[in-house]
Amino acid sequence: MELIFTKWVSAFLLCCCLISSKAFSVEGILGDDKVRGVNLGGWLVIEGWIKPSLFEGIPNGDMLDGDQVQLRSVTLQKFVSAENGGGTGVAVNRDVASSWETFRLWRVSASEFQFRTVLGQFLTCDAFGCSATAPSPSNSETFFVERKDNRVHLKLKTGAYLQATCLEITSLQMAMERMRQLVFIRHGINTVRIPVGWWIAFDPDPPAPFIGGSLEALDNAFSWAQAYNLMCIIDLHAAPGSQNGMEHSASNDGTLEWPNSPAYISKTLDVIDFLASRYGKHPAFLGIELLNEPSADLVPLDTLVSYYKQGYNIVRKYSSKAYVIICQRIGKADPMELYEADIGSHNLVVDLHYYNLFDPFFDHLSPSENIEIIYKNRQTQIQALNSANGPLVFVGEWVNEWNVTNASQADYQNFGRAQLEVYNAASFGWTYWTLKNDKKHWDFEWNIRNNYLQFGDSPIRAVFNCGLWVALACAWFPHLLFML
Ligand SMILES: *[C@@H]1O[C@H](CO)[C@@H](O)[C@H](O)[C@H]1NC(C)=O
Ligand SMILES: *[C@@H]1O[C@H](CO)[C@@H](O)[C@H](O)[C@H]1NC(C)=O
Repeated sequence: MELIFTKWVSAFLLCCCLISSKAFSVEGILGDDKVRGVNLGGWLVIEGWIKPSLFEGIPNGDMLDGDQVQLRSVTLQKFVSAENGGGTGVAVNRDVASSWETFRLWRVSASEFQFRTVLGQFLTCDAFGCSATAPSPSNSETFFVERKDNRVHLKLKTGAYLQATCLEITSLQMAMERMRQLVFIRHGINTVRIPVGWWIAFDPDPPAPFIGGSLEALDNAFSWAQAYNLMCIIDLHAAPGSQNGMEHSASNDGTLEWPNSPAYISKTLDVIDFLASRYGKHPAFLGIELLNEPSADLVPLDTLVSYYKQGYNIVRKYSSKAYVIICQRIGKADPMELYEADIGSHNLVVDLHYYNLFDPFFDHLSPSENIEIIYKNRQTQIQALNSANGPLVFVGEWVNEWNVTNASQADYQNFGRAQLEVYNAASFGWTYWTLKNDKKHWDFEWNIRNNYLQFGDSPIRAVFNCGLWVALACAWFPHLLFML
């Protein structure tokens, strides 16, 4: 009698747990059944806003790759202009500066620079004058910049000086830097998503302006992940030519050229081959994301789908079970387009990125309106994709931040709780952006330590508690019952 009762109680508890947590599962995740992770953003692909101190002390640090400059002749008081935006002559005749008068820098060294026009050609000067027709830069497109505050002299490689010009610096955008970092992870996290740049495949001597060292760091991350029972997702964040033109992609200067050239695409597939062959059999390898955040405006769907199909097949050469993750296009694109594309049959995952930022739509919302969007828009979309016949659903980037000024801790807790509740339902799971960040609300550790993001209320703890209760029930009920 007692024995039957004990079994019944245990079975009942076990069923409760199974019902509440087992709808989907991800192969390779221990204990938990889905990905609960963090992004190691800003680690191997540096982003200035995540850790600005990395950019301190750089000589001519306001003249990095992609910084935009306008040149004005001090004697003529006119701006240098690439006629028609590039591809033809250069004049020094404009009173105001606009896009034709704006050049993007390619930084060769702290004192040598190349100047790219808005249409993509490089500035060339010689004894006879200047033009803007060179499709790629060489010696004759490289200038020594001698600078005193805002006054600069441009000197040709031949040693001749151009006429004195006044240089204005408009913004800081791009830079890549070698970095090592120890990472500490706690709080129920089972996975890390690691952004990498294409140049990792050419380590230790990637082409300029990229710097070696990220491959060794990634190797270390895998060893360390294995030791701590974590799984790794490699995320190709920065493809050659750039798939979105953003500072965290591999654009030298903010232009987006990836889809325009078969050479860029085949080089990207080579990088996937390199990464899949190196890590495909590693016990800590959960999957690989083929391309982060391709632009909906400038990367055509058919180009992307063809790339994703080839990438899927490459990964399958090295692993039959690794998850192949395909990122939705950012901007105005519906992720359902990837469900309809028939990209791969096994362990395919679609990555969605959810930010209540970067779009005027979110600019003047109250905390409760922000939370309503999580339930109305996000939850609806996740449910629809979960039940679509096809890839698993992954919220690969989200953050406990919004465009609300001076929100209270309770507001943030509510926002975080809503996001966890909704993203926990994604069939593959989620990873927070990002583990460490100088902006505290973006920093996962800060959120947890300061109780702005409450994991305690999330299903992670609930699943853990379930297991604990079953174990306790099995261990203790017999004694209790016998004592009766
Ligand atoms: C936040 O809102 C302001 C307008 O109130 C807007 O200018 C700004 O770009 C928004 N910031 C982000 C990160 O979305
Ligand atoms: C936010 O808080 C700061 C510091 O307390 C204050 O100076 C600022 O006026 C507040 N902004 C708004 C929009 O309430």
